[in-house]
Amino acid sequence: MPKTADNLLTGRLALVTGASGGIGAAIAHELILREVDLALTYSSSREAVESLVTQLKDVWERKYGVHIIKNECPVITIHQADLASADQTVKLCQDVNEKHGRPVDILIANAGYGKRIQDIWDISLDEFEHTLNVNLRAPFLLAKGVVGGMKAQGWGRIVFVSSIAAYGAGINGCHYAASKGGMMGMMKNLASRLAEHGITVNDVAPAMIGRTGMIPNESTVPGLVNTIPVGRLGTPKEVADAVLMFCTNGYTTGQSLVISGGLRHH
Ligand SMILES: NC(=O)c1ccc[n+]([C@@H]2O[C@H](COP(=O)([O-])OP(=O)(O)OC[C@H]3O[C@@H](n4cnc5c(N)ncnc54)[C@H](OP(=O)(O)O)[C@@H]3O)[C@@H](O)[C@H]2O)c1
Repeated sequence: MPKTADNLLTGRLALVTGASGGIGAAIAHELILREVDLALTYSSSREAVESLVTQLKDVWERKYGVHIIKNECPVITIHQADLASADQTVKLCQDVNEKHGRPVDILIANAGYGKRIQDIWDISLDEFEHTLNVNLRAPFLLAKGVVGGMKAQGWGRIVFVSSIAAYGAGINGCHYAASKGGMMGMMKNLASRLAEHGITVNDVAPAMIGRTGMIPNESTVPGLVNTIPVGRLGTPKEVADAVLMFCTNGYTTGQSLVISGGLRHH
């Protein structure tokens, strides 16, 4: 079987950054149901990620706890890292390998930062650099940190959580668009170089996803929901479903999938 054609996720190890947020938590929910071990990260919201782990264990117990031969819940570890720090990002990869005793099979670079400052004259250099560090430099360092193990075993999945901003659209400023646009370029370049090693690289590019820290509900984006053709905010699960599609489809690489309820991005 060609290396990328093995699409079974059972027993793999996934590193999911930003699991304390809305989309990261939804991705963790999808992965646990496919029996994937999880390394979940947070920066400041420890309680959110701890509560997520409790929910994930409950989900597992409900699904498998009644079986006569009890399936053990996948291993779940929690890691704190400020991904604005290069040192902490590099150390995160080492910590995950040490705690799990094996390399990461699936990287979901989901953690992201975006303050809604739209006009270039309001964007400070510090704000620009912080946004680029979290949204672009950290995914680069994470990919660099995991790709050696993936290459050695001839299998890997990398999914970046980008944004419609990568296409120049969206409600944030040019600094956020630059960070996500850079991420898409990096994704396409890596995809072409890593395919021969059994590693696929793709991104999902959401817009207007509710029940997240970025957009908790409709009232936090006044007047904007009726500009979305499907007439509502997206859900974190709808983004997570697309992430799972990339993890389970080894014939798809170098792709960016916009999940925007029909909002135009070109
Ligand atoms: N919601 C949307 O409409 C939307 C649209 C387009 C793209 N996205 C992208 O989706 C991804 C997930 O965001 P979300 O919508 O789920 O929002 P969210 O609920 O606010 O989650 C953001 C996550 O990123 C983490 N994070 C932020 N700054 C960090 C840092 N310096 N170091 C480490 N982690 C950091 C947060 O960790 P802590 O809370 O622990 O600090 C949190 O887990 C982001 O990349 C975002 O750009 C979202």
